[in-house]
Amino acid sequence: MTVAAAQPAPASQPELNLPTASADDAASQSLLAVHRVLDNTLPPGKLAIYEAGGGSTSYMPPGLLGRSEITVVDIDADQIARCDYATTKRVGDIQTLRFDPGQFNLVVCFNVIEHLPDVEGALQGFAEALRPGGLLFIGAPNPHSLSGVVTRLAPHWFHVWYYRHILKDQKAGQPGCAPFPTVFHPLVSLPRLQAFITALGFEPLYAKVYESPRYPDMRERVPTLARVLDGAALAMNAVLPGRVDVRHGDYHIVFRKH
Ligand SMILES: C[S@@+](CC[C@H](N)C(=O)[O-])C[C@H]1O[C@@H](n2cnc3c(N)ncnc32)[C@H](O)[C@@H]1O
Repeated sequence: MTVAAAQPAPASQPELNLPTASADDAASQSLLAVHRVLDNTLPPGKLAIYEAGGGSTSYMPPGLLGRSEITVVDIDADQIARCDYATTKRVGDIQTLRFDPGQFNLVVCFNVIEHLPDVEGALQGFAEALRPGGLLFIGAPNPHSLSGVVTRLAPHWFHVWYYRHILKDQKAGQPGCAPFPTVFHPLVSLPRLQAFITALGFEPLYAKVYESPRYPDMRERVPTLARVLDGAALAMNAVLPGRVDVRHGDYHIVFRKH
């Protein structure tokens, strides 16, 4: 395991991915709600944050990052090389990596668990690494949504094609760049994940399943395809039991350790 040179945590805007208060899409609104939960629940003063699979982007509020020691761990050395907001950067596997018990106030695992074959191992590591009262924030795709089902069934080359040609991400598929191969362990399913984390000794503080940001993005970039998908989603919603919206492709959860 490589331990990269320690850096200050500047928490400047370019490397952060933050919604503005006026953003009206569901993903931004939920992320802002998560920020409020963190601000209202974490203690004042200096904090220790572990960003597991943190890659090169943080979704945490600058005020929180600015007063924290941030440890970013990622299995991809190219991602870690581009990360410029961490205090400490490590190339490592979050499924097996263990820190001293109770080292962190907050563990963030954002858009990562869908890539892990051993989600239990990662969650156990997070639980050990958190101190009592510490918070765990997980963001992940909903495997039962339209985008979740397509992502699970489609081969990796299709993901790369989608990123390159629909999302116009020219770097898609290059080393250290999205999309990363997905596994979709059964625990990525929200009810199972919530039950597992609760059994590890946590209480829920926040949970929201929301419309994936891919839809507003697509409505802007490729309106014809977006209209087809919106129509298909409405038809599926009409025949599926319960009040589901198959466009609710992502979720955020925050748990507090007892
Ligand atoms: C979709 S990216 C998300 C990165 C960042 N959290 C974000 O939201 O921008 C998934 C990240 O998980 C990392 N990853 C996948 N498996 C991992 C593992 N076993 N241990 C550590 N990081 C892993 C990938 O290298 C990648 O950087």
